[in-house]
Amino acid sequence: MKRPYAMIAGTGHAVPKRVFMNSDFASIGIDTTDEWIFDRTGIRQRYIAGAGETLTSISVEAAHQAMEAAGVTAAELDAIVLGTASPDRLLPATAVEVQAALGATRAVAFDVDAACSGWLFGTQVAEGLMATGNYETILVIGAELLSRIINWKDRNTCVLFGDGAGATVMRKSTRQRGILSAYMRSDGTLADLLQREKGGSREPITAEIIEEGGHYLSMAGREVFKNAVRSMADAADRALDGAKLSASDVDLLIPHQANIRIIEATAKHANIPMEKVFVNVGTYGNTSAASIPIALNEAVRSGRIKDGSIVMFVAFGAGFTWGSMVVRF
Ligand code: COA
Repeated sequence: MKRPYAMIAGTGHAVPKRVFMNSDFASIGIDTTDEWIFDRTGIRQRYIAGAGETLTSISVEAAHQAMEAAGVTAAELDAIVLGTASPDRLLPATAVEVQAALGATRAVAFDVDAACSGWLFGTQVAEGLMATGNYETILVIGAELLSRIINWKDRNTCVLFGDGAGATVMRKSTRQRGILSAYMRSDGTLADLLQREKGGSREPITAEIIEEGGHYLSMAGREVFKNAVRSMADAADRALDGAKLSASDVDLLIPHQANIRIIEATAKHANIPMEKVFVNVGTYGNTSAASIPIALNEAVRSGRIKDGSIVMFVAFGAGFTWGSMVVRF
């Protein structure tokens, strides 16, 4: 069966106002240095939400940009799919709050929980919705306020993450523009390596859990690193195979921005030179589900993606979840 062309028609992104530099960790009592963080991750700074900034507010800001770029009004949206691991409320989904704020009254709205792969999985869900024939215009958002779920006393994790939102408007294309191949995988046997263990329905929040910090994100950094490199390499191969393309056909690789060393290893495995890899982890840190759509928006607006460009996305996150996609713009 011929693949319907689900194209990315508009992009946008938003971040909170406050910039938090590596050197700012000293002021909150974290024993670290700019050199340690930068050498191991490539991160120099990240954006951190302040009072009044919510996942919904930054998502809506990103969505408005993407809708304007696509020439789409809220009334035209058939669906809103929001990838996040840090929703505004545990119930209901943040996507419905975005729907209400946009006034997208016709749109069905729901969240996708795939951690850092959230936008990539959400985009593939959107493509599937379009294939039913009932959905033409879909807003896909990847957004996180990780600053609200990390333990600011744990230097192993708090230096790595940042807040932000990226949005894309997907439309059915009449031209040969859109998703050429897509791949998604999960391995729940490794769930413990990157998690928020407590505070869910298995172990509801208690004063003791709060005291020990069991409701915060925790991570086995080295194990996550090894798996990320392996999985993203696999995903890059699958994306190219699926699209029947070779590495030299790719104009731009946009990998999940977790760590410059993981990005470089992925590019090397895929045989794509670093000049063709989009990197902004230094500015935003790891923004999880938001990282790829933020990078995509910067790549589009800076002219690195043009009409006809072949772009490959590769994601990896808690679960573990990973996947890839090749898109012709
Ligand atoms: N500043 C200074 N020292 C720190 C530190 C910090 N912010 N965080 C950890 N350390 C210390 C640790 O306590 C440890 O000390 P010890 O050996 O005395 O116990 C040591 O540094 C670990 O150093 P190293 O082994 O060189 O770290 P690393 O090269 O494994 O790098 C990470 C650590 C977290 C940067 C790396 O494992 C990583 O990037 N993992 C993947 C994380 C990720 O991307 N997660 C999200 C995936 S979507």
